[in-house]
Amino acid sequence: MNYIAAQDAPLRNDGLIKLHGPAAFAGMRAAGRLAAETLDMIGPHVEPGVTTGELDALCHAFIVARGGVSAPLNYRGYPKTTCISLNHVVCHGIPGERKLRDSDILNIDVTPLLDGWHGDSSRMFVAGEPSVRARRLIEVTYQSLMYGCAAAKPGATTGDIGHAIQFYAEANRFSVVRDFCGHGTGQVFHDAPNIMHFGVRGSGVTLKPGMIFTIEPMINAGKFQVKILGDGWTAVTRDKSLSAQFEHSIGITETGCEIFTTSPRGLHLPKFD
Ligand code: MF3
Ligand code: CO
Ligand code: CO
Repeated sequence: MNYIAAQDAPLRNDGLIKLHGPAAFAGMRAAGRLAAETLDMIGPHVEPGVTTGELDALCHAFIVARGGVSAPLNYRGYPKTTCISLNHVVCHGIPGERKLRDSDILNIDVTPLLDGWHGDSSRMFVAGEPSVRARRLIEVTYQSLMYGCAAAKPGATTGDIGHAIQFYAEANRFSVVRDFCGHGTGQVFHDAPNIMHFGVRGSGVTLKPGMIFTIEPMINAGKFQVKILGDGWTAVTRDKSLSAQFEHSIGITETGCEIFTTSPRGLHLPKFD
């Protein structure tokens, strides 16, 4: 795998891994903060009776009011600002008329583009009271993301990240979705390299300071297989089991990683009573 100084690279995904400098980290800090603030804002609106389309509209207005542009909107024909994925939807659920019901669990994924930088992040929310199993799935999925982030440091590999996530998820008898991965990001929404959420220690690409990418594990309560619905976007679990996901955008530093999308208000997990 080859690396390139980001300032020498074309503004597209040409397969080379961009190594970014301090200006990129500053740009990602601001974009990541806007993503986190958007998710902080939406939490109190997640209640039984609200539609996913209404949640999407609130996120869109919030991002635009702060000088951002929604990167997913019109991306490869995607029709909305957010992806909102309920219950057995794994990812890329399209917001619409569906009203939330008590004990629905949902992932909301936002990517504001701010001053040219993509802040890509998602979290789980619950409408009313989740089942015990749903709550456990959400907690394990969040912890698996954080174990993945802890493995992200110079000299480690993408396989080390995947292994950390898979080991924890499977130790808790959940499964890791194979069909979607994290990705390089920055000025290019989806860039090299791919970040798998499963794998073998020491395999894959060696991490270097300046790399910027997402980690976004999708964890299923049942089997890992997924299928895409007829709208061409919505991915669901084949066995209809619940699925959860969390996503951070991070940058590799000299000593570890910087998480750009941490909640300023500590709202990383839903409040469970
Ligand atoms: N934010 C999603 C990700 O984590 C991608 C959304 S692009 C869309 O990569 F087109 F699917 F909306
Ligand atoms: Co995302
Ligand atoms: Co992403």
